[in-house]
Parts: sequence; C-alpha cells; structure tokens
Amino acid sequence: MKNTYLILCLAFLQLLQSQNSKLSPEFYQDKRKDFRMKMPENSVAVLFSAPIRNRANDVDYVFHQDPNFFYLTGWHQPHSVLIIYKDPQFDENGSFNEKIYILERDEYKELWNGKRFSIEAVRQLGFHRVTTRNQFKADVANLSKYDKVLMFGFNNDIRDLEGDPYDLFDLKAAFKEAINFPTQFNGDLYAVYQHILKADEEHIESVREEVKAHVELDSMLLDDEIVKQFLAYPNTDFYSEVKTKTAFALRNYNFDLEVLPKLMKDMREIKSDEEIDLLKKAVAISVIGQIEVMKAMHPEMTEREIQGIHEFVYRKYGAADEGYPSIVGAGENSCVLHYIENEKKEIDNQLVLMDLGAEFYGFTADVTRTIPANGIYSLEQRALYEIVYEAQEKSIQAALVGTSFRSLFELSYAIVADGLLRLGIIKDVSEARSYYPHGLSHHIGLDVHDPGNYVDLAPNMVVTIEPGIYIPEGSPCDSKWWNIGIRIEDDILITEKGPLNLSAGAPRKWEEIELMMKQESVLDDFILPEIETLIQ
Ligand code: GLY
Ligand code: MN
Ligand code: MN
Repeated sequence: MKNTYLILCLAFLQLLQSQNSKLSPEFYQDKRKDFRMKMPENSVAVLFSAPIRNRANDVDYVFHQDPNFFYLTGWHQPHSVLIIYKDPQFDENGSFNEKIYILERDEYKELWNGKRFSIEAVRQLGFHRVTTRNQFKADVANLSKYDKVLMFGFNNDIRDLEGDPYDLFDLKAAFKEAINFPTQFNGDLYAVYQHILKADEEHIESVREEVKAHVELDSMLLDDEIVKQFLAYPNTDFYSEVKTKTAFALRNYNFDLEVLPKLMKDMREIKSDEEIDLLKKAVAISVIGQIEVMKAMHPEMTEREIQGIHEFVYRKYGAADEGYPSIVGAGENSCVLHYIENEKKEIDNQLVLMDLGAEFYGFTADVTRTIPANGIYSLEQRALYEIVYEAQEKSIQAALVGTSFRSLFELSYAIVADGLLRLGIIKDVSEARSYYPHGLSHHIGLDVHDPGNYVDLAPNMVVTIEPGIYIPEGSPCDSKWWNIGIRIEDDILITEKGPLNLSAGAPRKWEEIELMMKQESVLDDFILPEIETLIQ
C-alpha cells in the first residue's frame, strides 16, 4: 500500500511540475478557429495528449505535453483528448464544434497528490464542451459518418496503467476500434499509397521518385503488388488502373494520417506575436547562460559543471526545463553532433561546444557557442572558427523573406568548402560534406525542431542558422586539425525589414568571446569543500 502511495505521489509531483500555459485563452481559440477553417469538408480531427513515459521501475519521466496538442489547447495534463469538428454538431444541449476530455477529479487521489485540474479550469481556456475521459468511448462510436478522421499515427510506447480503465492506452484503443484501425497497419505502405493517389499525369515522374525513395528505405514495400505495379508501369493507361486499385485498397479507411501533420506544419511554421514574445524570452535566458559560462569557464572545469551553470541560469529565470538534452562537448566530444553524455572531466585547452536551449512556457531556444576552455583560441581553432563564423554571418544576412532554405544551406556550404580548401583540409568541394554533415537551419517553437514546410522564408518564422565544421581524430588531413568541432548557432526572427538575431547578445566573434572570458564571474568565489572531507 505504501508503495502505491509513493507511486501516486511521484506521478503527481511530476504533473505539478509541468507548466501551465502563459498565453491567453483567445490565442488558443483563434488557433482552433484557424485550424477548423483549414480542415477538409465533413472532417473531424482527433488529437491525444502525450504519454507518460517510464524512467525505471516506479519512477516516470517528467511529463511533457505533446506540442501539437498544447498548441491547440494550452492544456498540460496527460490522458486528455481534443476533438475538433469541421462543422457544427448538435446534441440535447445545443451546438458545438469542439470537445476536450480530461482527467476526472478524484478526492482521494487529490488528498495525496494535490488538486487535479477541474472542468472549470479548462473552460477558462476557452472550451465550452469539456467532459471527463470516460465519455470518450461513447462519443467516438459514430466517427464513420465523417468523410475523414484526421489524426497522427499511433505511438507504440504507451503503457496500459493498471487499475485505470481510461488511461491514454485505453483511450487510443477505443479510438482505434471506432475507426476500424487495422491491427497490422503498415504506415509506410499507407504513405506510399497516398503518393500514388496524388499522382496525376503531369507529376507522375516526381511521384515515382518519391515512391522509389520510400522503397529504398524499406525494400519490403516491393512485396506489395500495387507498389510493384506502380513502379513497373509501362504507360499511362496502366498507371490509372493502378490508381484505381489503390483507392480500392483504401476503401475501408476513413482515417487520414496526412492532412493533420500538414495543417500543423502550415500553422506552426509562422509564429504569432505572443509566441514570438515567449521565444524571445527563452532565447534571452539561453543567452545569459552562455555569457555566464563564458565568464566562469576555466580549464579545470568538467563538461557537467558547464552544463550545470547553463541550466541553473535557466531555472533562475523561471524556465522549467531545457528544450532538448544539453550538449556540452570538449575536444573529441565537440565532433559528436548530438553528444549528451557531458561526462568528460579534463577540458584543459580544448574547444568546448555548448548547444543548449531554455524552455520557457513550452517554447524553446536553441543556441550554440564554441569557446576555448582556457580563454584563448589556438591558431588552428581560430582558423576554423573564422570559417564557420563567416558562413553563419553571411547566411544570417541572406535570411530574407522569400529566400529558400535550400539556397541558404548552399551559401553556407560554399563558404565552408572554400575555407577548408584554403586551409588544405580538403582537395575538392564535395569533401566538405563529411566535415559539415548537417543542415543549416530549422524552425524553433514548441519543439526544438519545429514542424514546417521548409521551402521559403516568410515573415514571423523563427529559425536557427547553425553551420559547423567537425574534424574527428583520424580524418584524412593534418592531425593538427583533429578533435576540433565548431558550431555557431543563433535564433533568427524573419521580418519584412530583414533578419533579427534574437541571440545576438551572446558574443559570437572570436575576439568578443575572448574578451568576455576575461571578465570576472561570481562563480570564481563559489568554492565547495572537497567531498572526502564530508565522508565519514
Ligand atoms: N540542438 C539541436 C540542434 O541544433 O538542432
Ligand atoms: Mn538547432
Ligand atoms: Mn542546437
């Protein structure tokens, strides 16, 4: 029994740590209104909250709401569902076009774990139809009357909680039953079928290329007769027959896995003013973290200590979390793009790559600085740093409305390749890809890699610009370049008047970084006792 109490306490402590929304109810109402307008005729959208993920035994990870669900609701509890209808629905209480299902109150559990949020609290977020989750099953029983049920694919790591018949697992099971979701559903095959259906005579070659790309990733798709025929078709008549067969194969599905992700990309890639305000705060907090670390850094520090200073600053400013696991890598670790172990103890005279972002009311920054542990860039470190800086600076300047993501990347790649050629590290432009193996830019928002269409830049997008050069040990170049990894990453608001660098407050030029590193830090006097002195 005691154990059960402990489990409940832990689970709900974690719930309470999750942050409420800071945006107004109108913000979310407007988003849902916009969403509804974009929905196809006679459709309904069903969005689930995120699952609670188990860390080990009876301890769960801190709950983090699903960003799409949060974007449309502002609601931060697990085991919740949102339904949005394209058209007004009617019941004995009148008309409605959306409904949210939440955890029911439970006096006994609340005695132990604190208050669960009430239906009233959800109403304050602008919802008129709020019910507890045990209603969900009955409500979704008639989804077949809609032409399309818009949804995301199902995650497969949700636990069925013992003793709770309406947890997320059960809600999803009820939903699957309501839409006749096949037990053996092949999401890749479904995606390929959608491509085939969209192909008209004009685009057939591009669709064939897309289908081929799927097949390259998963050759089992070729076991499917329709896919095989589509790729082998000899003429357009035959192609139209394949299309008919595809439509027939999908005849029993009224669920749709394509429209909802696309709508969320279209909406979330353009930020409203309120979102930009919160992003600016998240970025400002992350900038202060970078500055404080620049001042405090010394060669005896460990990667974990550096991580701790950034994250302490985040908490000091009220950020509940990091938007992604903090990356602090010195020397060889700076060459691992998403290094998160942060366990190296000797950073000495190496470059330290610090890629971190505070999450403030759900919105996350993504800022990287690469600085010398001893405060002075060596000649080799500086030569490479200057190339990355130039690639970043020119890409930021080119981040104008209408510029394509692709052309920005190409600009940065040309500068990096040119610099590496000049230093004799590569002999041909194509070799630069192995030292600059990632993209240049992504949206940020509720996700660190926020959804978007990634075509052209538009006003009110917030994107990163983050070129890098990474030369791991053993690379085919002079060993003096080995173990140097450099990324410089800033968060840029795209405006009609040009790019606005939201993270410009953190020094970026090597000279400015060296100057900042000479400043005193309050942490210089933060001297803790040797641990051995306290061990009995
Ligand atoms: N922090 C992950 C990234 O820069 O994309
Ligand atoms: Mn990034
Ligand atoms: Mn980053």
